[in-house]
Amino acid sequence: MSMHDMYLEIKQSPELSGDISLFGAKNAVLVIMASLLLTRGVSRLKNVPASSDVLHMIRLLESLGASIRFDRQKHELVIDTTQVNKWCVKPEIMNKMRASILVLVTLLARFYRADIAFPGGCVIGNRPIDFHVKNFQKMGVEIESKGSYLKAHVRSFIPGELVLEYPSIGATENLLMAAVAAPGSTKIINAALEPEVMDLIAVLQKMGAQIEIQAPATIEVRGGAELKPIEHELVADRLEAGALLLAAAITGGSVHVTNARADHLAVFLLKLEEMGHLVKKGLKSKGIVLEATKSPQAVSFKTSPYPGFPTDLQAPMMALQCLARGRSVIDETVFENRLVHVRELQKMGAQISIEGAKAIITGVDELYGARVIASDIRASCALALAGLAAKGTTIMTGLSHWQRGYDNLHKKLASLGAHVHLYSSTTISPSLENEFQKLSHRY
Ligand code: UD1
Repeated sequence: MSMHDMYLEIKQSPELSGDISLFGAKNAVLVIMASLLLTRGVSRLKNVPASSDVLHMIRLLESLGASIRFDRQKHELVIDTTQVNKWCVKPEIMNKMRASILVLVTLLARFYRADIAFPGGCVIGNRPIDFHVKNFQKMGVEIESKGSYLKAHVRSFIPGELVLEYPSIGATENLLMAAVAAPGSTKIINAALEPEVMDLIAVLQKMGAQIEIQAPATIEVRGGAELKPIEHELVADRLEAGALLLAAAITGGSVHVTNARADHLAVFLLKLEEMGHLVKKGLKSKGIVLEATKSPQAVSFKTSPYPGFPTDLQAPMMALQCLARGRSVIDETVFENRLVHVRELQKMGAQISIEGAKAIITGVDELYGARVIASDIRASCALALAGLAAKGTTIMTGLSHWQRGYDNLHKKLASLGAHVHLYSSTTISPSLENEFQKLSHRY
């Protein structure tokens, strides 16, 4: 069955209420899986989301020779990299996911060469990889594109001082992994310091790498040590937390996200408070309760690198502004083409105009259920949220994005009282679930 036969049906829902917990971060798990190629042996990752991106990364690592098991119940991934013996990633694997660019460095560290097909993934803006490539070259990596392949090799990574003109997450992660393989001291200046990057740093430190953060945004790595396999529980997904808190807010409900980290969502939570919602943070920043106001005020915000407002919560937050009192201006500064969801929200009755990279939203009293198409992961979240509050029924297609980014988020929403259901044209359960069940049977 293909993803196209699937859709999410969302009906106007009552006030959501209850406790819910998060899986590990989607944006941390992929790079951490890739980083395991720096070691030889068996590593164990906990709280792993069963998303299609994770499945693709499993397939990618298997295609290189890794043996992998996944415990569906415990959300535990066991990866044995002892037998990894290939450095070539084929287009059919690479095309599925941009994050697969992350294996380039780890393959170079292991084999001194890597041939990888050009990355695919979400179509948000141009998403160039020039920051990665320029700095790789500084580190002694020779890289050329041949047909649909990037071919790279290195004699030995050269340590040194690297400067990013923008704190790119992917480039920071790639350079970090190169730096741990480079014998000597490497500084990454103007690095991205998102919680997911910090989780990768925690993993590399467990492996035995020496890494230090210097204010305001420099990462210093003393590389060259032999790295050992690790056991690690992934950082809780702040973007899934955002989705669940927004679902509580848009339905006027009250939800406790038990393992959410408030310190990872500071600006986002501030904006929810400015809207009039009550936000309670647990001890030591663990756990967030949102009690919704019945008359939310519109707020304006601008996306920026951490600790600013995350671009990945821009679309979901926009869904709320559509029903808030007043006018909101949302300025998307991270990606140049990340307002595609606006058109779909308009189909539901939202009043939004676009000026360059800004969306200007005038709150309306009601949204209406419609047939909408999700164009990327976070757009799928935004449309599902709008659907929870919209009169009638919303049918959302483009579910491959929903499944790339979230592990059964519809089930979590339903457990809080939302009327959300994933339908497939056949009576069997979705193929993604079957794939994970098969991996689980290896236990
Ligand atoms: C990561 C996240 C994604 C999030 C994004 C921004 C993962 C797997 N994905 O993507 O969910 O939306 O950060 O927070 O973690 N850029 C260049 N040249 C480069 C690299 C990036 O111009 O070589 C630009 C991009 O086009 C974009 C900006 O820098 O405008 C930020 O991109 P980056 O932080 O690299 O995003 P990703 O790592 O791809």
